[in-house]
Amino acid sequence: MTRLTALALPLIALALAPTAARADVVARAASPDGHITLTISLDGEGRPSYAVQRNGKPLIADSRLGFMFTDAPKIERNLTLADSKQASSDTSWTQPWGEWSRIRDHHNELTLVFREKGDLQREMDVTFRLFDDGVAFRYSLPDQANLHHANIAEELTQFAFAQGGTAWWKPAYGWNREEYLYNRTPLDAVGTAQTVMTVKLADGTHVALHEAALVDYAGMNLARAEGNTFRADLTPGAGAPKVSRDAGFSTPWRTIAVADDAAGLYMNHMILNLNEPNKLGDVSWIKPGKFVGVWWNMIKGEWSWARGPKHGATTANVRRYIDFAAASGIPAVLVEGWNVGWDGNWFGNGKDMNFSQPTEDFDADGLAVYARSKGVTLIGHHETGGSASHYDGQLDTAFKWAADHGEQVVKTGYVTDAGQIERVDADGAKHREWHEGQWMVNHYLRVVQTAAKYHVSIDSHEPVKDTGLRRTYPNWVAREGGRGMEYNAWVGGKNPPEHEANLVFTQLLGGPMDFTPGVLSLSGSEGSTIHSTIAKQLALYVVLYSPVVMAADTPENYAKYPGPFQFIKDVPTDWSDTRALNGEVGDYVTIARKAKGSDDWYLGAVGDEQARSSKVTLDFLDAGRSYTAEIYRDGPGADYRTEGRHAIVIEKKQVKKGDVLSLDLAPGGGQAIRFVASGGKRKR
Ligand code: NOJ
Ligand code: CA
Repeated sequence: MTRLTALALPLIALALAPTAARADVVARAASPDGHITLTISLDGEGRPSYAVQRNGKPLIADSRLGFMFTDAPKIERNLTLADSKQASSDTSWTQPWGEWSRIRDHHNELTLVFREKGDLQREMDVTFRLFDDGVAFRYSLPDQANLHHANIAEELTQFAFAQGGTAWWKPAYGWNREEYLYNRTPLDAVGTAQTVMTVKLADGTHVALHEAALVDYAGMNLARAEGNTFRADLTPGAGAPKVSRDAGFSTPWRTIAVADDAAGLYMNHMILNLNEPNKLGDVSWIKPGKFVGVWWNMIKGEWSWARGPKHGATTANVRRYIDFAAASGIPAVLVEGWNVGWDGNWFGNGKDMNFSQPTEDFDADGLAVYARSKGVTLIGHHETGGSASHYDGQLDTAFKWAADHGEQVVKTGYVTDAGQIERVDADGAKHREWHEGQWMVNHYLRVVQTAAKYHVSIDSHEPVKDTGLRRTYPNWVAREGGRGMEYNAWVGGKNPPEHEANLVFTQLLGGPMDFTPGVLSLSGSEGSTIHSTIAKQLALYVVLYSPVVMAADTPENYAKYPGPFQFIKDVPTDWSDTRALNGEVGDYVTIARKAKGSDDWYLGAVGDEQARSSKVTLDFLDAGRSYTAEIYRDGPGADYRTEGRHAIVIEKKQVKKGDVLSLDLAPGGGQAIRFVASGGKRKR
């Protein structure tokens, strides 16, 4: 057997030789620090490819580039490099809100102009940006004689990992959209994944594949082609082309973030840097902050969105929540089920939703006045049930109504199975769309832009993935896009303890998530157990970043936990600095953040189902200052599986820069710390 294989191999090599065309390197570029390098090759058939190396070692092997069209020959081979340009840039910019105030954008750029040799002579440009912590590239198709309009059937982009490894990924095209648990599999066992997909390569290097600035294009999934090689798989639309654009456009950026470890991946700013600067001008009207809401009781099934005896959004209930928010220093109250259209099987009846007509038991005008008198605003809710065109028809009226009632934020919803969004064209023709197809990508942005006219911010649920558009449209404050706290309400659907340590290093690399933490009662419907300790619920306020964050439990439940609730009252939602201190994807993560306009720092650590201990050095604190650390840690016997999940110790300690703290997390546990600077600035 062995002899036969040895004899057969050279024959196979010979048989392959004529088709395996030799590739010549035609261009090179490097990151500012020189550690990441890029080579561009053209093979004997004129097929371009790119490859990425890190510290001299292959990271991405030769990977193809190009497009396939529905109505024209593909652009893939027979290309020459007609021109190339290099540029460098080192700038910084300020975020109106975020994890960091200042963001540095330091990169080298290489633009390549490829031209076809045959009759068509079409041009395809590819621009690469090399950062010290990753590479991104995008295509541009200029308007030209043989390409005035592009009907794209598929992008021929590949990502060929040079090594195997472990991947954390969610399946694409499942009925439940983005709401799947993360799979952890060998890289060569991934199916078709959504992005962000995070990979720990065999040599320990961490890589996250995603995209930036997804505008007027279809969202990209990653289909494993063979071995460790993936290809772009664009989300379909209702028609044959996945993307239809007049030429003279650029695609979203395809991003490859790289770090030595998981914590390093979290510190990457590529996604934001690849988006265009703020297009909204003065955005001082955008207000980050916490909110409570007429919500958890509905999610648990005790109240209803629909009118009737269980209706949650009644004037009396909302007044009570406004009082509770005001007394707790929480600036906003979310109200769901306040409008006409929810009755019956609402997710099948999105077309009945009216976003400027309250139900008769919800005194919208009176509540707006009452909320204002208490220094609280209401957060409106627009559940479309996936009837996106029906919503489009109401956008201006709906956001004017919201603004007139003092709403600064509106939460939107698109609950329908994947691929079942209802689009109705001007001629009445009905189509079914995917949440991440080109038409919906445009719809979500239309909503954000219309809301901006009325100074309203958007928190999209059942959204398109986050590709950093918050930089360009800072009123797109948050989105869901994954399994949030609501799963912990449902008897059969609990999130496992490792879920949040997965989210931080996958979805949240794309941007903020409206996870809605803080269920201190730790129980869902029918008294079912939430797989967390109380300390972990607090830690989530630091670990899972969002500028708008819910305190998701009910006022009655918070009254039972005044000690831990103090942390929720104290923790801000806007930061001037952030440091990921340690972490392993799906195992644990510790993050420290400095409150914006304050000298105080906060730390959150969450683990998974195992007890975990780590030591962190407090070298992020300011030198020469002393801090009172207000520590909320898992108490004796804390364990997510037992009643011990409520065990918490709250204690104070004097600390300073350089001190070492031991973080001991229970199974399913966490730890939250507020570092109060003595004599420091303080702001909530
Ligand atoms: C699912 C959302 O995630 C949840 O927050 C909302 O309450 C329901 N849909 C109803 O719109
Ligand atoms: Ca784990």
